[in-house]
Formats: sequence, structure tokens, C-alpha cells
Amino acid sequence: MLALETSCDETAAAVVTESGVVRSSVVASQAELHARYGGVVPEVASRRHLELVGPVVREALAAASTSLDDVDRVAVTQGPGLIGALLVGLSAAKAIAWARGLPLVPVDHLHGHVASLFLGPEPVEPPFACLLASGGHTQILAVRDHARLDRVGSTLDDAAGEAFDKGARLLGLGYPGGAAVDALAREGDAEAYRFPVARVPGLDFSFSGLKTALLYAVTELTPDELARRRADLAASYQRAIVRALVERAHDALAETRLDRLAVVGGVAANSELRAALPDAVFAPLALCTDNAAMIASAARFLPAVRPPGYLGLDAYSSAA
Ligand code: KG4
Ligand code: ZN
Repeated sequence: MLALETSCDETAAAVVTESGVVRSSVVASQAELHARYGGVVPEVASRRHLELVGPVVREALAAASTSLDDVDRVAVTQGPGLIGALLVGLSAAKAIAWARGLPLVPVDHLHGHVASLFLGPEPVEPPFACLLASGGHTQILAVRDHARLDRVGSTLDDAAGEAFDKGARLLGLGYPGGAAVDALAREGDAEAYRFPVARVPGLDFSFSGLKTALLYAVTELTPDELARRRADLAASYQRAIVRALVERAHDALAETRLDRLAVVGGVAANSELRAALPDAVFAPLALCTDNAAMIASAARFLPAVRPPGYLGLDAYSSAA
């Protein structure tokens, strides 16, 4: 199977076998292109996807030592994400499938993140509870089956990755900042500042107040003081995000009566979160942030649409 993923600022293609062996996974990140704007500029992302999608698909096929002759299904992210960015991948996937008379499998991006756990030498088998924390989404899912995800909690405002990115920006760490906060936090004192973690009812999250608290702490400091306290701020800020995620993850286990927890999405790469949930299963690091191998993985458990049925498929921007 050949899979494409272009929902945000990564142009990705992968070749994955029916049994879930990743033959190749190529990710071209546009992060540098967007860094000077402090975030992803949708129209810039769409144009860059257009330039990269062909070469990235060719590279994925070459890295798997295969060609389109050996591909029997094409999978692609249909949503949620940036609509223009999604349309580039969806159109490319339709074109490849149509030219070859192949079926197409439209995949939900969030299902893809969860399906990163179904790949590789030790796939995780449902049922389990899953914390999905990325730049665009923060949810808790009861994964009943390979293709059945019931959402039991969700953020009411910012996603956890977005909180990391906004915090990084306030600390002058650039975009995207999750990994930079993670690295700087190791040199700081996580108890130096007490940042609030909002408690909302049920299994939901709220991160917008935390970001405001950091803003106030930063504006009270002179540039010199900020330089000296930056690691402490990063460590304390990260501690608050991790605490919120860990608490909710434990609540979710109790409420769903599922006995295993898995963590996926870009924030699953965070070292403090990994350490704070020693019993949880984490997606492999390379599969935490956006990639196409996870999209192929999800597609293995979904119905394929035969030609010409998929030609009218449209992308969708927000989660169902
Ligand atoms: O899953 P992903 O690649 O994209 C979305 O689907 O949104 O997640 C990207 C997010 C960014 O917000 C990035 O800052 C965050 O994951 N991230 C991290 C780390 N590595 C990436 N956040 C905290 N610690 C990290 N080590
Ligand atoms: Zn993602």
C-alpha cells in the first residue's frame, strides 16, 4: 500500500505491507519555512505540498525498492487538517489511484495517529484507552477495535502541542517549540513556578489559562531575568501540561474500565510525559509526529473505495 499525508506542514508518503511492515516512510517537514511566521501559514503550506508531493512519493517508492506496479491500494488523509493542504494530498492520491485503476482508502488523521500503534514488530492490540496529544488535537479515545474509536474526552480550547508551541514562542524558542521546551526543561527546576492546570468536568482538557499564566510570568521579568529563568519557566510550564495529561489519562482508565493506556501524537515524544506514564505504551518516536506510515496502517482496517467512486471525495477540515 502507498499512503500520502499532507494535513498540516509535513508532506509524507510511505509504503507499508498488508501485515503492517513499514517498507519506507518519507517525511518532508516544512517547519523551517513557517518558522519565521511563528506558525503554519495555510496558503504557504498548500503551495509547498504541491512542490513536494511528487518527489516525496517517488522517494518513498525508491526507498522501499518498489514501484507503482507493486502497489495495490492507495491510502490518503481526508481530514481533519488545513483544507488546502489536505486537498493536495487527496488530489495526488486520486490521480495515482485513477491512473493505475487502483482502489483508494480515505483515512481520518486521528485514526492514523492511533494506528501508529498497530505497526511494527510489537503491534498493540485493542481494546485500550488512548491519549492522543498533537499540535492540532488533544483527545482521549476508547479504542474498542482497530477501526472503532469512541471519543471520551477532548480539549475545550488549545491542544497540548499548541500549548507547547505557544509557550515556546513566549520563551523565544521558535516554532515548533515542543521539542525545544522538552530539551530546555531538563536544565530547569519544575517546581520554580506554580502554573495552574485547569480542571474541567469529565475527561476534557483546557490549556488556554496556562498559556496566559506563562505570559504574565514572562512580562514581569526584565530581559536579563528572563534569560536566567528561562529553563525554570520551561520546566514548570511543561510540568503543568504533563500533569494535566497524566491525571486525565488515569481518570480515563478508571472511567472506561480499560486496563491499558497508549499515548500517540507529537506530544507523545515528550520525555517527561514518557517518564510520568511508565506503564503506558507509547508510539515509536518516529511515528509520533505526522507521517504517512500511520495512515497506511489505519487504511488496513478500512474499506477501500473502487474507481470511480472516490473521484468525488472531498477533504474535511474539522474533526467529526
Ligand atoms: O502530531 P503532530 O506532528 O501534528 C499534529 O497532528 O498536530 O504534532 C506536532 C506537535 C507540535 O505541537 C510539537 O510542538 C509537538 O507535537 N511536539 C512535542 C515534542 N515533539 C513534538 N511536544 C512536547 N515535547 C516534545 N518532545
Ligand atoms: Zn497529527
